[in-house]
Amino acid sequence: MRVLTTVNLKGGSGKTTTAAFLAHAFADRGKRAIVVDADPQGSALRWQGMAEWPVPAIGLPTTGLHRQLAGVVDRTRFDLVVIDTPPLEERQGIVASALRIATDVLVPMAPSMMELDRVGPVWKAIEDAAGYRDDDPTVSVLLNRVVPNASSTRAIRDVLTDQGRRVLTATVPRREAYAQAFGSPIEPDVPYGQVADELLALWGER
Ligand SMILES: Nc1ncnc2c1ncn2[C@@H]1O[C@H](COP(=O)(O)OP(=O)(O)O)[C@@H](O)[C@H]1O
Ligand SMILES: [Mg+2]
Repeated sequence: MRVLTTVNLKGGSGKTTTAAFLAHAFADRGKRAIVVDADPQGSALRWQGMAEWPVPAIGLPTTGLHRQLAGVVDRTRFDLVVIDTPPLEERQGIVASALRIATDVLVPMAPSMMELDRVGPVWKAIEDAAGYRDDDPTVSVLLNRVVPNASSTRAIRDVLTDQGRRVLTATVPRREAYAQAFGSPIEPDVPYGQVADELLALWGER
């Protein structure tokens, strides 16, 4: 069972939107996916309830996530857990716990200098979590809120790549449909489908 944790320092970076759309994209691709909402605000859980997602969701906003997950999510029933986390700066303990059990970490961020400037603590948290485990997770940046043809996207990608970070080729555009998606059913989505396909390829699963 893979455990994909979305993480970033701040709120508003697209963690919940990404967790929600990606879980659906994986389900569309035949994966038995479940969302674990580790944010005490519970947005993913409420969205799931409002829209009656086909993808199950449970709330587990606790610093004991790495101990409790195995007892809450049955490995024989699910292929993939997508963990939506609170902002690292607000709930470091929960995020650290979610990073400890991640097989894969996804950092959604807009391709802007400001977001780039504040991603440092995220790398630090991922490295700190590595001290508690044997094998390192895959770590990928997902550029979202991308404006088509903006030169900034390429520039930010290059800086991250030069820093040794993996940046997914697939990106998510800035779209009103994402901005207004909360509470509504999630239809098959091309950009997040491409993100799911790229992650599956990274994992050697297609
Ligand atoms: N690609 C996008 N284009 C436009 N709006 C987006 C996009 N991704 C997320 N949003 C909006 O940005 C806000 C913050 O996203 P959210 O997923 O809640 O971030 P986080 O969970 O990191 O706080 C939400 O209103 C969401 O609808
Ligand atoms: Mg959120």
